Amino acid sequence: MADKKEIVLSGIRSTGNLHLGNYYGALGKFVRMQDDYDCNFFIADLHALTTNPDPRELHANVKNILAEYLAAGIDPEKSTIFIQSDVPEVAEMYLLLNMHVGIGELMRTASFKDKARKALGIGVPAQGDDDEAFEKEIIGAATNKRVNAGLLTYPTLMAVDILIQKATKVPVGKDQEQHLELTRRFARRFNSFYGVEVFPEPYNFDFGGKPVKVPGLDGSGKMGKSEGNCIYLVDDPKVLRKKVMRATTDEGPKEPNSPMSEPVANLFTLLELTSTPDVVSHFREAYADCSIRYGDLKKQLAEDILAVTTPIRERVNDILADDAYLRRVVAQGAERARERAAATLAEVRSVMGIRKF
Ligand code: TRP
Repeated sequence: MADKKEIVLSGIRSTGNLHLGNYYGALGKFVRMQDDYDCNFFIADLHALTTNPDPRELHANVKNILAEYLAAGIDPEKSTIFIQSDVPEVAEMYLLLNMHVGIGELMRTASFKDKARKALGIGVPAQGDDDEAFEKEIIGAATNKRVNAGLLTYPTLMAVDILIQKATKVPVGKDQEQHLELTRRFARRFNSFYGVEVFPEPYNFDFGGKPVKVPGLDGSGKMGKSEGNCIYLVDDPKVLRKKVMRATTDEGPKEPNSPMSEPVANLFTLLELTSTPDVVSHFREAYADCSIRYGDLKKQLAEDILAVTTPIRERVNDILADDAYLRRVVAQGAERARERAAATLAEVRSVMGIRKF
């Protein structure tokens, strides 16, 4: 069989439309990997439940991302495209793997601390990331039901997504690296506990070598839905141009070769992702000799972003309208994903000593 290709697996949580951060951290890479790997791309709707358990929105969100995957060029003939909740084997293995995961290591995961702090309305401790202070606060706030156990065990579920498919390459953004590190740790721990090499260790993948962090338009931090600083793939040109023109900048360089403020450096990062090298160096030189006009840079940036997003936006609505097609894609994807998942789960049950009478 042509099954020699390395197994790739990645997914995106279905919590709203996809933005440029998702595109450069994940989706764009998915599309480029399809010909060379055994690719499996899914929509993490169970992970979405950890923060957005709204039954009126869940399905529409899944459908939107599915359409965006397809519109961006993920080809269901080349890649397996599936919905996480269509693979019940994942839920069973999540239970089994949790027996080998410590609550301490989960509580110290950065994404848990961030989300728990947000849910509880606790700020970052003044001394920085102080585990002890944080653990006290969380335990102290134990009566607050908004920090659910699903949020705590998020990394277990993500590890299962990866390990149940025995994937070795996981194209994700920089913010997911800690989860991948945990996945490798869980895999090693499981293998050594039972003395069987059940799981290979997965690593991040990026064409440029190192994963990117896509900045937002508000001058600091990464692009993220909860940050409200996103450019969505489906933003119409007018909205998109307006967002870019309003991006935070500064007063401009006062003397040649001044260092860049964070908001301006962020605009250059976006320009590097979307524009050609000569456009980037043109604006870098203009910055260095103080002739730069941020308005010009933003106009160029908006057009270059549109060149990336327009073909996707133009296809999305047609795809969304074709329910029969979407149904076929996910049914075929679920079947393929379940085949490998069921085989791994059977192996895991057997290694753990779960036997039939
Ligand atoms: N945690 C990922 C994110 O927020 C989504 C995700 C869930 C994922 N399971 C995964 C990514 C498995 C890669 C592999 O973006």
